[in-house]
Amino acid sequence: MPVDPAPLLRITNLSVRFGSGDKAVPAVRGVSLTVDAGEAVGLVGESGSGKSTVARAVAGLTTPTAGSIRFNARRSVQMIFQDPAGSLNPKLRLWAIVTEPLRVAGDTVARKDRRTRAADLFESVGLQTEALDRYPHQLSGGQRQRVAIARAISTRPKLIICDEPTSALDVSVQAQVVNLLRDLQERFGLAYLFISHDLAVVDHLCTRIYVMKSGEIVESGPRERIIDAPEHVYTQALLDAARASAPPLVGQAFSG
Ligand SMILES: Nc1ncnc2c1ncn2[C@@H]1O[C@H](COP(=O)(O)OP(=O)(O)O)[C@@H](O)[C@H]1O
Ligand SMILES: [Mg+2]
Repeated sequence: MPVDPAPLLRITNLSVRFGSGDKAVPAVRGVSLTVDAGEAVGLVGESGSGKSTVARAVAGLTTPTAGSIRFNARRSVQMIFQDPAGSLNPKLRLWAIVTEPLRVAGDTVARKDRRTRAADLFESVGLQTEALDRYPHQLSGGQRQRVAIARAISTRPKLIICDEPTSALDVSVQAQVVNLLRDLQERFGLAYLFISHDLAVVDHLCTRIYVMKSGEIVESGPRERIIDAPEHVYTQALLDAARASAPPLVGQAFSG
């Protein structure tokens, strides 16, 4: 019998409820999904549908009310957020920021070696090493997101959870960041759980898509099936919204 390799991430019947009694908010209800090694999986849905709550539960920042979250590898998850300005320590120089997780993970990497690692990470994400000693506020939004990505790959994770990583960026910069993520996926065999309200961006990067509405997965499948033949009226509405916004990404993504 062929042995099915366990997925990198398996979420089973995840529920997260905030508060209690009459005021309880069921943010996530019975969500199940998997991400295989090296796979880019999209989680799409309108604002308030529960995407970030799933992300935070996977990252261990929120305690599930029910269900399970299993990884088949240790120390293998990093996270990228929508607002890099808010997630980068404004008082640290960029070289220290991108190597921060190495310290948190308990690596005893000397300061000089951390700087060398930072230079390598800068090269990986297309940042000039001249900027190593700068501070986050001296960068553009797109450059700051590159710093956040460099920091995320510093521990060589197997999975990166990207929560709306391009939503605060100009459309032209969005495409650059998505292309960078795709390059890094190939180069390092990374898997992504890529979260966005924008189906066009998800379509550009992900080969499998889950659609979330009001805390639940309403449909999922290969990208082509979701984009070309959505089964749920809600998915169709997300598609219409993505096409209406009509940035260059949509042109590329929906042209085939
Ligand atoms: N810490 C919290 N306390 C109470 N309610 C929350 C909290 N975080 C999220 N929610 C609620 O949970 C629902 C899902 O939110 P969220 O996961 O942020 O959605 P999305 O990321 O898809 O926009 C929303 O109704 C939101 O108001
Ligand atoms: Mg969110």
